Amino acid sequence: MTENDMTSLNFDEVQPERNIYKMGANQEVALSTENLKVSYGNKVALTDADLQFERFKITSLIGASGSGKSTFLRSLNRMNDDVATVDGQIMYRGLDINSKDIDVYEMRKHIGMVFQRPNPFAKSIRENITFALKQHGLRDKAILEERVETSLKQAALWDEVKDDLDKSALALSGGQAQRLVIARAIAMQPDILLLDEPASALDPISSSKVEDTLLDLKDKYTIIIVTHNMQQAARISDYTAFFHLGKVVEYDETRKIFTRPKVQLTIDYVNGNFG
Ligand SMILES: Nc1ncnc2c1ncn2[C@@H]1O[C@H](COP(=O)(O)OP(=O)(O)OP(=O)(O)O)[C@@H](O)[C@H]1O
Ligand SMILES: [Mg+2]
Repeated sequence: MTENDMTSLNFDEVQPERNIYKMGANQEVALSTENLKVSYGNKVALTDADLQFERFKITSLIGASGSGKSTFLRSLNRMNDDVATVDGQIMYRGLDINSKDIDVYEMRKHIGMVFQRPNPFAKSIRENITFALKQHGLRDKAILEERVETSLKQAALWDEVKDDLDKSALALSGGQAQRLVIARAIAMQPDILLLDEPASALDPISSSKVEDTLLDLKDKYTIIIVTHNMQQAARISDYTAFFHLGKVVEYDETRKIFTRPKVQLTIDYVNGNFG
């Protein structure tokens, strides 16, 4: 979809035949959005986003290009502050992290983000992990070393790089670099990890390593991942939200979205009829 399509978008096209899963009493909600609406200038890119994310689960955000997935994900980390107007609430531990008085820098320690293109710093592998930790005041060498090892292990990269920690991260393959960026994010010990198509720039083997890594991480982290790859969504996620033209059309357990979705648009999308 082009920007022009979106500009002329009539939101009424998406009928309120929505099916939005709500967590039950015994499910712990790590993050939720209420009436989230994002506009770039006078162009509304996302509206009516009410989603709850269960703790220690993986949730996939799927939908055609331009449907608002990245817009939604970036808002959860306040990455849209400078480019968009974000209305509505994003509740995290009883706080609305979309409110003006939130310390965004502090919030990002709890909610980490990984982007589509691996973006390691032009520093050593070790420094990629320790850089932000030092900026946040961590100085103890033993603790820093421990964080380097633990986060690289959690990101399933340790065995490949343990003898090269002082070498430049720019020498890593795309898949290794992406796992390093994941290690860098988890070294901050966040609660929630947001990933925007983290495997789409990778070859199939690297991509499957990133998938395995995410599956290993969900014991400790709540993961929200944007993916265009429906097999990937089906393989790794517990919940799936289907976005279409700036709205969440259906949100449910992944197996339901892929085997018996309730909304016709979802049926068409998962069957590959558009997008
Ligand atoms: N910084 C921006 N300024 C203006 N419009 C934007 C900006 N970022 C996104 N948009 C528009 O908002 C709409 C939703 O874009 P978004 O990037 O969220 O879609 P997406 O679902 O992530 O798509 P893709 O699958 O291609 O990544 C699109 O029409 C896009 O052109
Ligand atoms: Mg996107």
